[in-house]
Amino acid sequence: MRLALRFTLLTAVFLAIVYLVLKAPIDDRLDQYGVGSYIKDKVFTSAKGAALDYLPPLPGTTGDKIIVMAKLEADDTRWVTEELADWQSAVYTVNPSTEDPDTLKTPANKGREAMAYLTYIIDNYSDLPGTIAFLHSHRDGFFSSWHTDTPSHNNVDAMRTLNLSFVEENGYVNLRCKRSPGCLEAQTHNAHVTPEVYLEVFRGTSTQINETAQAPALVGAACCAQFAVTSEQVHKRPREDYDTLRRWLLQTDEKDAKSGRVMEFLWHIIFGKEAV
Ligand SMILES: *[C@@H]1O[C@H](CO)[C@@H](O)[C@H](O)[C@H]1NC(C)=O
Ligand SMILES: *[C@@H]1O[C@H](CO)[C@@H](O)[C@H](O)[C@H]1NC(C)=O
Ligand SMILES: *[C@@H]1O[C@H](CO)[C@@H](O)[C@H](O)[C@H]1NC(C)=O
Repeated sequence: MRLALRFTLLTAVFLAIVYLVLKAPIDDRLDQYGVGSYIKDKVFTSAKGAALDYLPPLPGTTGDKIIVMAKLEADDTRWVTEELADWQSAVYTVNPSTEDPDTLKTPANKGREAMAYLTYIIDNYSDLPGTIAFLHSHRDGFFSSWHTDTPSHNNVDAMRTLNLSFVEENGYVNLRCKRSPGCLEAQTHNAHVTPEVYLEVFRGTSTQINETAQAPALVGAACCAQFAVTSEQVHKRPREDYDTLRRWLLQTDEKDAKSGRVMEFLWHIIFGKEAV
């Protein structure tokens, strides 16, 4: 009896400890994936729910706004032109097997989506539409698009509900609002953007780094490199800056997973926001 009691108590204590240790990471993961709102949206909202207010554009009318994207050749990105017909688009294939001159290409398949984003800016710097949205190639999906911060993780909804005046007012807007991952206090000692990496990336750009203006010790931004900027904000830097940033991506020995991640946590700084 005493043995059984002791065993029960030990088990209870053990489970309580496991719960306490795992609670925070589990809660964080549920929040990252927006699990609650995803289920609510899928179960209780009709498929067209989120887009009810949306009026499709008249045929042939695209706005003063563009979606820029990197894709693998195998990715299906037809949803961009089919469902977001009021946006212009520039979709770069980073691993093309075709010589087709109409396929937008990047100088190398390096640095993940950052290579396409910078290539678009460099090549079109003098002729940018008013708003530029940089997106990933997945339309939706609980796992593949978990970082898309609409209830059903859907970039069509995100673009149809994007407040362009808000982008205009702010110059740069992260399309993800959840702070995790990337901007929780514990994450702002950014493992990817160390002061050394920061100096390396910005060396030779108009971001002055000297005795008074140092590399920031803390860097934080909502993750995942989907954001919108105005052409005015892009033009606050000379074209050469973007060229210099892309040269870093082309020349760095870091793996793509790392160099892409570095850029992911620098876009807000590149476009004029505080480091955190
Ligand atoms: C951007 O510039 C490239 C290179 O000049 C050009 O091929 C492409 O059509 C431009 N993209 C847009 C959307 O204007
Ligand atoms: C859109 O953004 C503008 C500028 O910040 C703001 O005044 C307006 O209330 C926003 N509209 C909606 C529907 O949130
Ligand atoms: C140092 O950088 C700051 C911020 O970019 C700038 O205002 C200042 O003029 C720079 N100082 C020197 C000596 O270049």
